[in-house]
Amino acid sequence: MAAQQSTAPLARRTVTLGVTGGIAAYKAAEIVRLLRQMGIHVQVAMTAAATRLMSAHALATLSEHRVALDLFDPSLDATPPSLDVSSWGKSQPSREVGIDHIALSRRADLMVVAPATANILGKVAHGIADDLLSTTIMASSVPVLFAPAMNVQMWENAAVEENVALLRRRGYLFVGPAAGALACGETGTGRMAEPTEIVDAVVRELLKRRHGLRVLVTAGPTEEPLDPVRVLSNRSSGKMGVAIAAEARDRGHLVTLVAGPLRCELPLGVERIAVTTAEEMQAAVETHEAEADLLVMTAAVADYHAKVVSDAKLPSGQKALSVDLVPNPDILAAVGPKRRERGAITIGFALEIGADGDARARQKLEAKGLDMIVLNDATRADSAFGGDTTRVALLTPEGDAAQLPAQTKREAAREIVRRAERLCGFLPTVEETHPS
Ligand code: CTP
Repeated sequence: MAAQQSTAPLARRTVTLGVTGGIAAYKAAEIVRLLRQMGIHVQVAMTAAATRLMSAHALATLSEHRVALDLFDPSLDATPPSLDVSSWGKSQPSREVGIDHIALSRRADLMVVAPATANILGKVAHGIADDLLSTTIMASSVPVLFAPAMNVQMWENAAVEENVALLRRRGYLFVGPAAGALACGETGTGRMAEPTEIVDAVVRELLKRRHGLRVLVTAGPTEEPLDPVRVLSNRSSGKMGVAIAAEARDRGHLVTLVAGPLRCELPLGVERIAVTTAEEMQAAVETHEAEADLLVMTAAVADYHAKVVSDAKLPSGQKALSVDLVPNPDILAAVGPKRRERGAITIGFALEIGADGDARARQKLEAKGLDMIVLNDATRADSAFGGDTTRVALLTPEGDAAQLPAQTKREAAREIVRRAERLCGFLPTVEETHPS
């Protein structure tokens, strides 16, 4: 278990985004927006060609940071500070002159170049540093992720292929390009990966170099087929599990999300494993729980599946239909006690309605070997399935019960993850930068 560690949350990470002169440069705005949404600090460096396709002002506004354009700061050309004798000995303005590329690479935890043209790939592969961006990449000691974007003939050009292979061998990372319709009117491989895919790769890369917990979260309902078109399921949206996965990610933990068919968007920056049935969810949990410091089982696993799944569509009509149902395995009951034995932390959820909810949740806490159970009454308007708010109580084996107020699922997730960190003996350093 990762005890007594601290981690840097995403809010304290810096990404340098290099933008080169491909038509996909306009998508840099969305990349900056998504990174900023997660609290990641972004500094943008643009090539001269990129500024003709995308506004540096827009990227400066979105990143809330000056955009670096030149190796040499033109504003210093008129009165070079080093020649301003009156300032000698008072301050050192000249220290910043011409070293933007060093600062850009040193301040960053990761560099991403999106779009990356054939030109920048060629330059980096062959050690050419003739402008701010190529110099910054060359001076960088952090991982560099390229998102290539170019015409299909260029992507398939032998020189580009060799450059990409060379860069991969040297440890440079790539996301995309994808196949599809290209801006030039042709179809083929060369489209820049979508901004969500690029940000997903950036965040995963940032979190790999972390000292956080390994967190496994399950979310959503499962679907049990009755025939090729009909399923047995429940009303779970998956929002609570997604909120927990996103919160754990933002606090610097490496997250794997096992997701049933969700009725909400999947979070970026986490490993996602899509499952449909309880059996598939069980297989995924059993594969991944061994390396998880923390398992949070929010999934509303269907309790039954059809004894026989009909190969043909069941006939509809006026006659009563009965289907034999058999119980699904209880995933948590199978892994919880084993995890407890080896000191790994496990949190379950209980959906209980009525007065004895507490007592029934406590029985589950005990029977499934849990360290905490999150009790929820989904018949309340402020805690309903699919809603954005929830009102939960947190119960532990020691007999403690904390009733949380009705709040957004994200706020509840923050409280659950904070408590889980403590149960894991994990000392976060995030409170001061991550306000509630
Ligand atoms: N759970 C599970 N496998 C199942 C059923 C539930 O792992 N087959 C997990 C859920 O993810 C949840 C906890 O067990 O974390 C409790 O689920 P819940 O459905 O409330 O309880 P059940 O044990 O299914 O009891 P009941 O159906 O009586 O409410």
